[in-house]
Amino acid sequence: MNRRTFLKASTAAAIGTLAAGSLALAADAGIELTLGELGAVISPHLYGHFIEHLGGVIYDGVWVGRNSKIPNIDGIRKQFVDDMKRLGAPNLRWPGGCFADGYHWRDGIGKTRPRTYNFWQSRMPKGLDATETNQFGIHEFMNLCRLIGAEPYVAANVGSSTPQEFHDWVSYCNAPAGTLTLAEERGANGDKQPFNIRYWGVGNESWGCGGTMRPEEYATLYRKFVTQFPAYVEPFLVATGPRGHSTDGDIGWTTGFFEGMRGYRPPDGFSIHYYTDLRSTTVKAADFNPAEWYEVLLRGVRLEKVLQDHWNEIGKFDLTHRTKFVVDEWGVWYKPGEELTPSYILSQPITLRDAVHTGLSFDIFNRHAEKIAMANVAQTVNCIHSLFFAEGDRFVRTPVYYVFEMYRAHMGARQVSVRNPAQDGNVTGLAGLSASASLKDRRLTVTLTNPALDASLPVRIRLSSGARAQDAKGQVLTHQDMRATNNFTAPEEVKPVAHPVKILGNGLELTLPKHSVALIQCELS
Ligand code: AHR
Repeated sequence: MNRRTFLKASTAAAIGTLAAGSLALAADAGIELTLGELGAVISPHLYGHFIEHLGGVIYDGVWVGRNSKIPNIDGIRKQFVDDMKRLGAPNLRWPGGCFADGYHWRDGIGKTRPRTYNFWQSRMPKGLDATETNQFGIHEFMNLCRLIGAEPYVAANVGSSTPQEFHDWVSYCNAPAGTLTLAEERGANGDKQPFNIRYWGVGNESWGCGGTMRPEEYATLYRKFVTQFPAYVEPFLVATGPRGHSTDGDIGWTTGFFEGMRGYRPPDGFSIHYYTDLRSTTVKAADFNPAEWYEVLLRGVRLEKVLQDHWNEIGKFDLTHRTKFVVDEWGVWYKPGEELTPSYILSQPITLRDAVHTGLSFDIFNRHAEKIAMANVAQTVNCIHSLFFAEGDRFVRTPVYYVFEMYRAHMGARQVSVRNPAQDGNVTGLAGLSASASLKDRRLTVTLTNPALDASLPVRIRLSSGARAQDAKGQVLTHQDMRATNNFTAPEEVKPVAHPVKILGNGLELTLPKHSVALIQCELS
């Protein structure tokens, strides 16, 4: 393969500030898929979601109220339900985020609900009310999950609560009808049958907004919170993990927590929050130059090294790797100033760059599927890295939405190992071609991303074990403008289109346009 770099002088100069060797762009590329021996099942939960009581996420994004003129199902925005169903959204994490460690579940049940303090209200622009109305509580959340067909993942309050409050909430949710008084209360509030919630987060960012604890302190609290857990259904308990994008000592959190768990049963899940965090830079969400395109993608792909490093660290304590990662917050986070509307704090424009970042992130998740039990984009609507913007009766799907749609076929399929010379051995840099592949029945799915701004990339896909492709179809998401976006006035500016794929003797061939994400599917014989 020709590995000569194709960066044009202008772009090369623009990215001159990036570390040498961190960018390995290619003039053409070939990948080889090993079909003889398949890898782990790619859990559908890697394509999961997160919604928090923050700005316009829950109120307006998801919940419009039962008396709203906006089409709704029991107060839930119908378009949101329809689109999440279309994606096959596998799960929803709720109620936070930082909100979770200040949330008391009883405030969100029953007819009369109090107005309470919301963690995020101090971040709101002056004069805008963000007190919590508690109209959206556990029953409304479960109704949303049922409507979508998504598994609930609830983050419990550890920072300002007690093990008893946590256990009562679990019993209220999961105790069978006709058993506990809490189950009767649930029935009186409209849900006789138990919710059977399996996934519980035991706190959130306990090193920060969830309690500013040291890892060993949190390990002690974690054990207290889980020892008397009422296990009506086999639970999947998630411990707070590190801030994956921090450079200072986040491995220390992982070491400290697992030290503190020595001799005890390790958690089922260990959360990682990996933001491509631009908040301390001048990089903007909507308007940026080529150097800033690459900077965002380069920071994004460091996720792979973070997963590998923490996995190795956990392996020193948890020798059989019982504990899996739950990447329950990930996405590109720009600094404030470009909000959709002032009260939708943390909302930011989403461009083709964020879509390409999503493809790169999903390829990493797919390649490490055996390590990851779940991942949740932060956050699904009206926020960081969102799939949707909703304001009153206006609704739009962002370019990120379409990448979720394109990668859907990987959900529940078996990992296919990809030999990608542009990528292999390169865990910190941005490769000229990103790829992942999976197989379900005889249906092969390959997803590819070309991050380069300057040139299209001819790609050959070689199939091992004498496999032959039939009925190959391609789709590509790109735009002539790297800053292209979808908004309320031009909602379909960035959208996937059909893309030609040629079948060769033992493989496939296509040309990946510059700055694009592609989906290729075929039947194998
Ligand atoms: O997603 C926004 C915030 O980011 C979450 O509330 C918190 O967990 C993280 O710091």
